[in-house]
Amino acid sequence: MKFQNKECCFLCWRKPCAPLFFILVFGIANCHTIQRIKECGVSCSQGFPCKNKQLDDSFNFFCRSAPKDLPKNVLENMKISTVMKCTPSSRCSLHLNVNGTVIFHGHVRGVEVCALSLGSQHTQCMNIRFPRQKQKYYQQKIHVQANCLEVDVSEHVYVTMKTIPDYCKVHLEEHYYVEDCHNKDVGKHIRSCISGKLDYMVNEGKKFITVHVSNILEDLDYNVRLCRKRFICHDVGAHAVIKKEDANKSVTLEYSEILPCLCIEGWSAMPDARRTRLCPFKNDISILWDSITYDPKRQVLTWNPLCPVNAEVHLCWMPEHNDRCLRITNSLSDEHDKVSYSRVDTQPSLCINFTTDAGSWVRCPFASGSFPAWMMETHLINEIIQIRLMSQTKAKFSVSICNQTNFNSCEKLQSYTLDHGGTLDNVTLNLSQKICGPNICIQCLRVDVNYTFPVQSCGIPCMLQDSMPNQGSSLQMLVVVAIILALTTIFTWTGYLTFQVCNQKRLQKKLQMKKLLEIGILGLEITEEHK
Ligand SMILES: *[C@@H]1O[C@H](CO)[C@@H](O)[C@H](O)[C@H]1NC(C)=O
Ligand SMILES: *[C@@H]1O[C@H](CO)[C@@H](O)[C@H](O)[C@H]1NC(C)=O
Ligand SMILES: *[C@@H]1O[C@H](CO)[C@@H](O)[C@H](O)[C@H]1NC(C)=O
Repeated sequence: MKFQNKECCFLCWRKPCAPLFFILVFGIANCHTIQRIKECGVSCSQGFPCKNKQLDDSFNFFCRSAPKDLPKNVLENMKISTVMKCTPSSRCSLHLNVNGTVIFHGHVRGVEVCALSLGSQHTQCMNIRFPRQKQKYYQQKIHVQANCLEVDVSEHVYVTMKTIPDYCKVHLEEHYYVEDCHNKDVGKHIRSCISGKLDYMVNEGKKFITVHVSNILEDLDYNVRLCRKRFICHDVGAHAVIKKEDANKSVTLEYSEILPCLCIEGWSAMPDARRTRLCPFKNDISILWDSITYDPKRQVLTWNPLCPVNAEVHLCWMPEHNDRCLRITNSLSDEHDKVSYSRVDTQPSLCINFTTDAGSWVRCPFASGSFPAWMMETHLINEIIQIRLMSQTKAKFSVSICNQTNFNSCEKLQSYTLDHGGTLDNVTLNLSQKICGPNICIQCLRVDVNYTFPVQSCGIPCMLQDSMPNQGSSLQMLVVVAIILALTTIFTWTGYLTFQVCNQKRLQKKLQMKKLLEIGILGLEITEEHK
């Protein structure tokens, strides 16, 4: 097999991701030129006089058992290829070229080659008849060829080679796929492959596309339309005909929206014409992520793309001051058509993440804040941790205190369930500040929805150092201050130097005390989850 078109084959070979086998088959199928024939017929090895003669249809219908002396390999080496026959009016047709070898034998009067089209179920046969008295060829291998079986572009045919008469078990048979219009030679010369070349210009302001056509069949009108491709391309209303006598091969079609599946299609006005399709916006996929709707009554969040797209979809939670959206468990969907989530938490942080081969996108349908949301605040008041929950809608929460043992896991220590009536009042929970520490977190999860994410506030400060008991600490401080003051008064009378020393000590103590109080005040507000 020779590669005729170097450039094409080079491209085929370089396709990096396709398996080698596919590259080879694809390369051969698309790159070779089709052999031309002037006349079709049958032929045999040099000098062997064989003829193409039609048989009575029923003659070779049933096989008969082979004579004992008939060699098992009487038929061999069947090879099939496609040839092209062109008439001066430049109309070309495709034919099967079937080759094989026959061992010349007294019981064999010829060879029958048949092709069954698996599409149309139509069968065609050719007979190669041998002369009766040719003793000098006895037991010799004769090469036979038949090339008159006409086939269609990309037809799947089942080819058989039989002896005449038809002896059982010596048949040769093979499936064969005729080249399609992607083969450059076929695409250029076979009429049904000539489907036109489309060039376009988009006017985004006026929302129309101008299409110019070339390489079309000159004796036919030509159709151009816009369509939206799902499995097939569905009409979107814009359609125009270029009359065969029109010198200006251009039309203008209006569109309503640029979509990745919006395509331009063109075809000659004849039955079953092959179409040229161009989908110029197929890479503009980001528009597809915007078709998200939320039904507040049914509480269903739906993404219904206007074009089919191969995307992995999941819900995620966008933390404040962070650009990485955290995946919500069990929300992954790889439906291509429509994705729905029922009972989602309508928080501004709840988003949808779309991932395709081309990248990843996040859309946050509740970010505008026009849907009911809730909020958790944590305050430290008088050694009590007060958790306040505000909600614009009836909601049920689970609040837990947990110990963050590593980045991803927080070990539950205590948990509480709180109901919020959706009124203006806050629902509060008071906890003792005894639970404190840098790894201790307060986690709040809405539990009456299917899709949400826990809000967490970590690092509950311990107001005083561990060595000091929490209870009555301010009283102790007051006692310390009183003692210092008393001592100072006494030592004033004992000497200036002593006083100075004591005064310094008093100042130091005062500073220490002030520091402690400051920590306490600062600790009042731990965090505010949402502003
Ligand atoms: C939190 O976890 C750490 C290490 O896993 C442990 O040392 C500590 O005692 C835990 N704290 C509480 C309050 O359980
Ligand atoms: C929590 O404490 C505050 C004052 O410290 C009080 O007003 C509130 O009623 C308490 N809440 C609960 C649920 O006990
Ligand atoms: C979501 O919630 C509804 C009603 O509460 C329930 O019927 C449905 O099964 C839930 N779906 C999932 C996926 O959890």
